[in-house]
Amino acid sequence: MKKLLSLFLLLSCLLGPVSAEDGSRLWLRQSTDAHAQITTPRQSPTLNIAVRELKQAWKGLPVTLVLKKDKQLSSEGFRIRQVNGKLTVTSPSETGLLYAAYHLIRLQEMQNFGKPSETDQEITENPAYDLRILNHWDNLDRSIERGYAGKSLWNWEELPGTLSDRYEAYARANASIGINATVLNNVNASSKILSAEYLEKVKALADIFRPYGIKVYLSINFASPMQLGGLSTADPLDKDVIAWWKQKAKEIYRTIPDFGGFLVKANSEGQPGPCDFNRTHAEGANMLADALKPYKGIVMWRAFVYSPTDADRAKQAYLEFQPLDGQFRDNVIVQIKNGPVDFQPREPYSPLFGAMPRTPQMVEFQITQEYLGFSNHLAYLAPMWEEFFDFVKPSSLKAIAGVANIGTDTNWCGHPFAQANWYAFGRMAWNPSLTSGTIAEEWLKQTFFDASNPKHAPIAYEIHNMMMESREAVVDYMMPLGLHHLFAWGHHYGPEPWCDVPGARPDWMPSYYHKADKQGIGFDRSHTGSNATAQYPDSLCRLYDDIRTCPDEYLLWFHHAPWQHTMQSGRTLWDELCYRYDHGVQQVRSFQKKWDLAENYIDAERFKDVQSRLKIQARDAVWWKDACLLYFQEFSGMRAPYEVERPI
Ligand code: GCU
Repeated sequence: MKKLLSLFLLLSCLLGPVSAEDGSRLWLRQSTDAHAQITTPRQSPTLNIAVRELKQAWKGLPVTLVLKKDKQLSSEGFRIRQVNGKLTVTSPSETGLLYAAYHLIRLQEMQNFGKPSETDQEITENPAYDLRILNHWDNLDRSIERGYAGKSLWNWEELPGTLSDRYEAYARANASIGINATVLNNVNASSKILSAEYLEKVKALADIFRPYGIKVYLSINFASPMQLGGLSTADPLDKDVIAWWKQKAKEIYRTIPDFGGFLVKANSEGQPGPCDFNRTHAEGANMLADALKPYKGIVMWRAFVYSPTDADRAKQAYLEFQPLDGQFRDNVIVQIKNGPVDFQPREPYSPLFGAMPRTPQMVEFQITQEYLGFSNHLAYLAPMWEEFFDFVKPSSLKAIAGVANIGTDTNWCGHPFAQANWYAFGRMAWNPSLTSGTIAEEWLKQTFFDASNPKHAPIAYEIHNMMMESREAVVDYMMPLGLHHLFAWGHHYGPEPWCDVPGARPDWMPSYYHKADKQGIGFDRSHTGSNATAQYPDSLCRLYDDIRTCPDEYLLWFHHAPWQHTMQSGRTLWDELCYRYDHGVQQVRSFQKKWDLAENYIDAERFKDVQSRLKIQARDAVWWKDACLLYFQEFSGMRAPYEVERPI
């Protein structure tokens, strides 16, 4: 293999590097020498886009687009049939035909469809969820909460008068991967977003997104009737409050007739909510749902709640929401983060999933890397989401949301590989049974490597491996074996397991989570501790509750394990911890070597960008390892084994 690789390297050096790429074209960088014949049933903004895309990129058989109902197709589904040297694409909707156009182009890039020599075939695609939505945590001043790719795309100052080209480019990128909805503003919402002035700005964006099949939603501040409407209360059972929201809904739909609905963070991290008025989350959500109902709008009500009570933070969402099962209106969806704490590099899934059988639920993934190295670290997140779907059946969910990693950076996402996470979110939202490996391959073939060039295959293989191993590497060098929330105070980037801020909330301190002492380390969530294990279905509860059967990757999440505890590898816990941290560091170094092999295959700009970010990542990985091991060794009383790179 090595010999083969050097041969390929030599060959490509002779051929010279490929041309420069600015990264702004995302995965939509097809050549423009297309020559296909496209037939469409009519002209319309959406169909015109489909035709334009195909005319620009499709090099295969003639394509006929047909609008047609079909029992096997949902409204956005499509079917592609190849018969007698022609392709017929059918869908009940124009958006479905647009998705089919992007699908064809994707398949062409994969080199496996639409070439005249192939035998007749058929593809049927239906999205798994009707709602595939991005959540922007963008503030109205254009800062982005947990955003690492520049400022917010939405230039509120200039809207609605000036429309950036990037609005349409954004819509196009989303449509190409099946994302059909977007929440424009931060969940820590300003009530100003519902003012008449801002609704006009929102309308301008909605108008641009519409032909791409994308609906606009807004995060709302529950106290808007007070802050914006001048009422003395925001009590969801107060008749003036009810009337205020009804009136507001009417105004919104007059401005944006296909407005999607509200996303709500209530009684969480200081945000106002129904509990301020002794009402339940259900009462708050239902009041809003009633206001939106006549217009078919929905409410996505977040279950991200916790407060510094005696209850283990990991248990709180379940404790608060599970008893409300069956009390929500049918146009409310409870939106739950994938894990019970907060987007850590690894968490077990949130036990609230599946615990509210009479309530529609949706998952909230975080595409932006708040806890995985911002846009400095290469961390392909699809394996993490795939892991979630190993536990939570995709069909048990109503919808899927992802906290966006998009900003004004030229390449949209900061790290060139962070684009893969946006891409993967869209693809998994469309089809959660796609594997993370398949999605990585798709993305690589549309971004860095050319599937038709056999010289690219070996290097693409190496980079694919790097992507697939990258999330686990982050887990290893940051928080292996179920450790979580060891971050420094004030940011979520570097390590500070010793952090102690006098007077600060205990549940914001790393020691709340790692609980290291002379005996051992980890949070006892078994029956001898907080008993969070009891929130899981029986079989998992038993597995996690018993320290002898709890999988290594969750050990310190569920147990305060003795330093001498024997791990699955046969090592002691202390040694295993050292090995894992060390392994994480070694992995990043191996990524650097792999990436260096890519130099002659891709443009210099993206090559150097990734190379320099990998340097930062390698340095940070050592920082994490050294900080954590030096700190924890004060408790374990042991030093790292000689075989690992010891902290200095
Ligand atoms: C995390 C994040 C916050 C965010 C919150 C949320 O705690 O650090 O910035 O507001 O999640 O999801 O509401």
